[in-house]
Amino acid sequence: MADQVLKVVDQRTKLAYDLPLFKGAIRSMDLRQIKTGPEDFGVVGYDPAFLNTAACQSSITFIDGDKGILRYRGYPIEQLAEKCSFLEVAYLILNGELPTEGQLENWVDDIKHHTMLHEKTKNFLESFNHDAHPMGMFISCVAALSTIYPESRNVLDPENRKLQIRRLIGKVPTIAAYTYRHSLGYPYVYPDNDLNYSENFMNMLWRMVEPKYRANPVLSRALEILFILHADHEQNCSANVMRAAGSSQADPYVSVAAAAAALSGPLHGGANEEVLKMLDEIGTKDRVPAYIEKVKAGHVKLMGFGHRVYKNYDPRARIIKWAADQVFVATGRNPKLDIAMELERVALEDEYFIKRKLYPNVDFYSGIIYQALGFNPNLFTVLFAIPRTVGWLAQWQEMLEDPEQKIARPRQIYTGYDARELVPIGKRVAQVAALAR
Ligand SMILES: CC(C)(COP(=O)(O)OP(=O)(O)OC[C@H]1O[C@@H](n2cnc3c(N)ncnc32)[C@H](O)[C@@H]1OP(=O)(O)O)[C@@H](O)C(=O)NCCC(=O)NCCS
Repeated sequence: MADQVLKVVDQRTKLAYDLPLFKGAIRSMDLRQIKTGPEDFGVVGYDPAFLNTAACQSSITFIDGDKGILRYRGYPIEQLAEKCSFLEVAYLILNGELPTEGQLENWVDDIKHHTMLHEKTKNFLESFNHDAHPMGMFISCVAALSTIYPESRNVLDPENRKLQIRRLIGKVPTIAAYTYRHSLGYPYVYPDNDLNYSENFMNMLWRMVEPKYRANPVLSRALEILFILHADHEQNCSANVMRAAGSSQADPYVSVAAAAAALSGPLHGGANEEVLKMLDEIGTKDRVPAYIEKVKAGHVKLMGFGHRVYKNYDPRARIIKWAADQVFVATGRNPKLDIAMELERVALEDEYFIKRKLYPNVDFYSGIIYQALGFNPNLFTVLFAIPRTVGWLAQWQEMLEDPEQKIARPRQIYTGYDARELVPIGKRVAQVAALAR
């Protein structure tokens, strides 16, 4: 048992403490017993941006960042991407096991029963400017569903949760497609439940006057694979927001909206849109070395490169590259791929990137394939949010069912003034206040 205890000696008091190791971790609360006296609050962990803090136990997704491994519920992402449909993977992520044929049929049927939006949601969309960013519209519409399903607040009822989970998975593609149609001024297309998840999404995006939309099977399968790759990624920024918002027992619609807001930033899901802007800015392959120099000088970041967890090639980027080849057979090659591949080649041979273990992440190639599929760059992050809704909901459910979880509330190390007397306004000397700077 000796190796399951961490011995800590407090040099201030010369006292020794045995901190039990639990699955390779110490419990931060065990640090609190380490004090200099009864008035001392005790030691706390200081970990801005959670670089080395596990905030939960989870059995959903496993990542080994050094080896470039990603698994959902134990199944390698490569096998899931090759052999499963997106809704099959969604079932796995949410329920822990792959469905049988009968279970999958019922699950798909359940989701299809929730693809329509309340007509009021459409009115809500109408009020956005035509050039509103689709992610802003998506976040707002998802949050607005909370007003349409007020019973969703009953988050401690497992049956109620199941219903809201199905609704959200059914409706996010519809909301996403409607944001796109709204920006073009096209009439909204209702869901077609003869089609599978990705085909129906394509139908709602692109059907014009034809009576029935028929998706190109190569393209719909590529979209399905992209959805599988983006479905969950353990405790990333937006999953953490989902858990934090949900820990106050906020309803799942506003919690998913909060998570989607976190996703929208350029350092997280917004990176795929930024990659395309970067490739446009570079323009041609011969300008790649100059751009890399700009990155190394710290003027810009190489978007789609680097990851908090992966210190090796992101396995999702590898699968996306493979899927891109299939798509390009159907659509013709996206010339940006050549620039991206040259960027990757130059970067992976450069000491700056090697030393920092910076490799392409999921967003590096996803934008190129999304563009080849016919999507505008400003829709890319919404395309990420659709499948990630499954991951957020699985993380949310796991958090609510975990008896150790409580409202998420970190500590701080206060660095401000000690108590001071208020000076009446007439006697104050102007100070350079932080806010006025
Ligand atoms: C993903 C990301 C936010 C992770 O950040 P992080 O874990 O906090 O890593 P850090 O910012 O501490 O980076 C470590 C070092 O690599 C550098 N670095 C990280 N990502 C970089 C990038 N994309 N381009 C250039 N340098 C990068 C940092 O400047 C830092 O260098 P330093 O040690 O000289 O200061 C970061 O890699 C990034 O901004 N990437 C670009 C955005 C992106 O693609 N996001 C999608 C993630 S899926």
